[in-house]
Amino acid sequence: MQGRVLVVDDEKGMRLALTGLLSKEGYQVESADSGEAAVRIIEPGRFHVAITDLSMTGITGMQVLEHARRVDPDLAVIMITAYGSEKIAVQAMKLGAVDYLPKPFDNDEVRMVVRRVMETVELRRDHRRLLEQVQSDYAFEQLVGRSAVMRRVFDTVEKVADTDITVLVRGASGTGKELVANALHYRGPRRAKPLVKMNCAALSRELVESELFGHEKGAFTGAVARREGKFEAADGGTLFLDEVGDMPLETQAKFLRALQEREFERVGGNTAIRVDVRVVAATNQDLETAVRAGRFREDLYYRLRVVELTVPPLAERREDIPLLVDHFLRLAAEHFKRPVKPLSGAALRACVEGEWKGNVRELRSAVEQALLLSAGPEIDIGDLLPGASASTGPATSPAGDGYGGAASFREAKAAAVESFERAFLVAALRRHDGNISKAAEEIGMYRQNLQQKMRELGISAEEIAGNQT
Ligand SMILES: Nc1ncnc2c1ncn2[C@@H]1O[C@H](COP(=O)(O)OP(=O)(O)OP(=O)(O)O)[C@@H](O)[C@H]1O
Ligand SMILES: [Mg+2]
Repeated sequence: MQGRVLVVDDEKGMRLALTGLLSKEGYQVESADSGEAAVRIIEPGRFHVAITDLSMTGITGMQVLEHARRVDPDLAVIMITAYGSEKIAVQAMKLGAVDYLPKPFDNDEVRMVVRRVMETVELRRDHRRLLEQVQSDYAFEQLVGRSAVMRRVFDTVEKVADTDITVLVRGASGTGKELVANALHYRGPRRAKPLVKMNCAALSRELVESELFGHEKGAFTGAVARREGKFEAADGGTLFLDEVGDMPLETQAKFLRALQEREFERVGGNTAIRVDVRVVAATNQDLETAVRAGRFREDLYYRLRVVELTVPPLAERREDIPLLVDHFLRLAAEHFKRPVKPLSGAALRACVEGEWKGNVRELRSAVEQALLLSAGPEIDIGDLLPGASASTGPATSPAGDGYGGAASFREAKAAAVESFERAFLVAALRRHDGNISKAAEEIGMYRQNLQQKMRELGISAEEIAGNQT
């Protein structure tokens, strides 16, 4: 990389000397003859390093530094200070200067300092590039779709991703709301900062509030140590609130205030904590009904849906199904280290015509299962259970092609597995009084996966609390 350096000094001799020296070192150098001129030409990404004299008439070196920090936080600023003014040098470093050069200095010192600073600039850039790569390869799963309805979703994502506007993502279960939230984060300027996710359907109000805002030691029974909440963890980044419609009513007021003022207190605390967080919320509930029924605050409802993004059910974008099938086949093949297999015509048709009540999620697991189960050279309709054949009844009958027995065996097996899972998970949750984190830990599952399973199986708080004798 060819380093770009800005030299700022109102003394002509010094300016020319530094410019000459650094040009000879191979840097691309520009100069500014005053603080004013520097402020005018500093813009994001234009320079890697700026060397500025501290004492100039008009805008001082310190002000140039402050301006640079604001406009281009990546710009490394080196401060030239007068002999014996260590204090000022320290102050400059505190304000974010990366180094300083006390006068008088010789050419070697300048070369060395600039080279060292340039190296860290380069390192940081590499690191960021790596980070972006990792994010695009793994964390940011692609949103697939070509239908007009999905294009509208993508358009809105593009338009609002680089703003701080609160977005409410709506849509039925499994339509891809979380993926849309990911896209809003990873396509925006906060992408290198954390994306913190939280599910508001936790079991108790206490838990939800402590998760959101954190708590102080002793705030309630079991709060043995101070804990940082999701709001704090997301500082600088995005907070994704899933199932926001399930947020307890009492919590909503506190949340509204945090949303409006970007300020809140930990549970049991009274110091205001300020954060810079972008909020994206999702729900599959009919919030309007919840508002009318008094289960959801109207003011919060309006505050959340500044921009509303509705992800349509799969049945309204059937033209995307072949694309999605192909996408999931490839992902599954890679994940399970199996070769990609094509779908038979009948299987593909069954997919396109399927009912897919569980939307994209159901399609995805059907495709994954099919890839694992299919024995032949292509995936046939019988492999695509239960989504495409038994429950949704496309034109072709699975019984007719010799898979009928296998289909009912799988159904029986699926039912047995489901009832086992339900009994096992409910028992684990009861042992921990409904505390999902603890139950998950005991049975060796990730908390999110357990929550997901609970939703899939429809395990409710009442069920866990009930028959506990
Ligand atoms: N357009 C899409 N392209 C690729 N994959 C998708 C798409 N939509 C959804 N998926 C996949 O489908 C699954 C479900 O998506 P996601 O978790 O985002 O749904 P959701 O709307 O948040 O569901 P829920 O309401 O149940 O939480 C995920 O595996 C996701 O990767
Ligand atoms: Mg979700």
